[in-house]
Amino acid sequence: MSKKITFDYWEHLYSARTEHMVSSEIRDLLALSARPDIISFSGGLPEVRALSFQRLERYIRRIIKTDGDISLQYGTSDGYYPFKTKLIEVMKLEGLDVVEEDIVTTTGGQQAIDLLAKVFIDPGDTIITESPAYTGALNSFQSYEANIIGIPVDENGMDTSILEEKLKELDIKKIKVKFIYLVPNFSNPSGVTLNLKRRKKVLELAKKYKTIILEDNPYGMLRFQGKPIPTIKELDSMGDGHNVIYLSTLSKLFAPGFRIGWIVAPHPILEKIILGIQSTILCVSTFSQRIAYEYFSDPSWQENIEKFKGIYSKRRDVMLNTLEDSFPGGTEWSRPKGGFFIWLKLPDYLDTKEILADAVRNKVAFVPGSGFYADRRGENEARLAYCTESTERIEKGIKILAGIIKEKIKLYKSFK
Ligand SMILES: Cc1ncc(COP(=O)(O)O)c(C=O)c1O
Repeated sequence: MSKKITFDYWEHLYSARTEHMVSSEIRDLLALSARPDIISFSGGLPEVRALSFQRLERYIRRIIKTDGDISLQYGTSDGYYPFKTKLIEVMKLEGLDVVEEDIVTTTGGQQAIDLLAKVFIDPGDTIITESPAYTGALNSFQSYEANIIGIPVDENGMDTSILEEKLKELDIKKIKVKFIYLVPNFSNPSGVTLNLKRRKKVLELAKKYKTIILEDNPYGMLRFQGKPIPTIKELDSMGDGHNVIYLSTLSKLFAPGFRIGWIVAPHPILEKIILGIQSTILCVSTFSQRIAYEYFSDPSWQENIEKFKGIYSKRRDVMLNTLEDSFPGGTEWSRPKGGFFIWLKLPDYLDTKEILADAVRNKVAFVPGSGFYADRRGENEARLAYCTESTERIEKGIKILAGIIKEKIKLYKSFK
């Protein structure tokens, strides 16, 4: 739909909250990158074509034939119980040991984040995130009017010495931190992974300063290099197990179209989340959960994960190699061991929004960095998603970007 600038008659009626509901740059760009002539490094779109559509068709036929009365009906607000037994098996592979009653299903990971924000954030409350952070989480936290403090990340994830200083400072000022939101594995957008030492440190700090960690883990199973690191939730379970809320999604393990995510949390928190579900959607789609139940009952789902990993690791390799071969000096990027994203840093005098305009004219898209910072810095940074395009198009697109960036650097130097 094309955007029309029109006078808004209802402006005087909107809630103050809408002022904090910022547009997601990713969403705007997704519209653009849907054009087949654009090589898109913008959205984190999984390779759903790797799934067997024939098999899915079989599951859906079977469901309608044998179980239509349940799968087309409303379900319970905490989620479809048989599907939760499957989630338990999935989480076991990540080292987590939970029972059905510890889980609530949601409409995607995004709703899980939004429900948690709704449950914990009053206007002006302080929360902590990685910096840069997942833009969908930032948008949600901003809509609840949180005071967002970003802690920088390096190649080992969130810098825990800066986190410690910040928590100390806030404690002295008697400012309570409602939660620390983290994507420890192959983070969106930075691609970096929080190492074990820092996972332990974040947990130790959360306990010391009596706050909660929201561990968002959509990409943990998509590791194609190195050994898995225990989740913070698993580390917490070795102790008293109160400080971590774990959330994840089937969007990258299966397909985002089903819109299924989930939350594992202490029971009093889950009760509040269920109330939130009741007042927003009543229940997650029973039909989607029923299909996901079939999918995860078939052992072939684990082969599909291997297939996904094979595809994404090849694409990552091509993107990294082409960056290495074609990008000019003074530029740097992260080297993810899994997941979907590479984080790019250009010299500070370059603005990735301006570069995007040139790139789109040359039929390449990516996401400029500022949308991943609550304070909108990161103007010389960008997120490149390698999950979506073929290796040939990745190579072509990165070379086009390299050419544009070299031109910009040359132009800048000619004026100096
Ligand atoms: C870190 C992170 N959390 C949550 C989500 C939301 O996922 P969904 O709503 O598709 O389950 C995403 C999507 O890209 C993500 O990268």
